[in-house]
Amino acid sequence: MMSMCYRARYFIITLLCSCSLLAAINASSADQAKGTVLITGANRGIGLALAEQFAERGYRVIGTARNTDKAEDLRALGASVEQLDVTDQDSVNQLAQRLKGQTIDILVNNAGIVGHTSKKLSDLDVNALAHVYDVNALGPLRVIQALLANVAESEQKLVINISSTMGSIERNTWGTTIGYRASKAALNMINKTMAVDFAKQGLTFVVLHPGYVKTDMNAGEGQYTAEQSAAGLTKVITGLSHENNGMFFDHLGMQLPW
Ligand SMILES: NC(=O)c1ccc[n+]([C@@H]2O[C@H](COP(=O)([O-])OP(=O)(O)OC[C@H]3O[C@@H](n4cnc5c(N)ncnc54)[C@H](OP(=O)(O)O)[C@@H]3O)[C@@H](O)[C@H]2O)c1
Repeated sequence: MMSMCYRARYFIITLLCSCSLLAAINASSADQAKGTVLITGANRGIGLALAEQFAERGYRVIGTARNTDKAEDLRALGASVEQLDVTDQDSVNQLAQRLKGQTIDILVNNAGIVGHTSKKLSDLDVNALAHVYDVNALGPLRVIQALLANVAESEQKLVINISSTMGSIERNTWGTTIGYRASKAALNMINKTMAVDFAKQGLTFVVLHPGYVKTDMNAGEGQYTAEQSAAGLTKVITGLSHENNGMFFDHLGMQLPW
């Protein structure tokens, strides 16, 4: 009787161990199948909605936040939360150090600001626009420089820069918001230069416009919710190939003019 009981217990423990081992193997092969995505500025707005979309699709998500204490929604998605201020070279270097040896299939430079703007040219604080460039153009460049090795080692080798039609010279028919526009045009050029420079290594650099989205950036005004925008962006991103290197699309997959 004792020996029957012991054997039954041994059988159940072995079965449970096998099940959890199988679950672990399945989880890790799911990660391997879908890959890893790193999204900057993922604690709110479009970045958070993108993190949710990629997590739902089975990707391993690394989301960055300037203040990791304010990233509860991101953490609740099961994402790894990493501190990053894209204007702070030390913060960027420390992130790269922490992620050393980890592959990143899709790097999404999403963090951005509108920053200083003025309707009257005489009231424009030109020096304040340096900060807009620092966040929107130099920030993504710092992140690309620091994490390119992680992307180059991955399967998908994809870098996405979230820009705007506000950065399109051809689409600029109504002016305003000069610093934001110029910083996004600079980001577009950074993307194009990277696309040319790293094409031989099989890397793909794409600029995406998320639509006019109801986030804090627009004080809640917009045509799309962050979820709608992110659903479109994710569909576009997961459908990209190296043939799209250096191109500019919106969240509906329409190619945009520079
Ligand atoms: N909303 C639109 O209609 C629209 C249209 C075209 C393009 N975009 C672009 O889409 C991207 C996301 O915009 P959003 O509407 O989601 O804006 P948002 O709600 O204001 O979120 C901006 C995100 O960027 C982060 N961020 C700001 N400065 C940063 C820095 N120095 N380092 C790291 N992260 C920083 C913010 O972090 P904190 O929480 O710490 O501030 C936040 O997570 C931006 O690049 C924006 O230009 C938006």
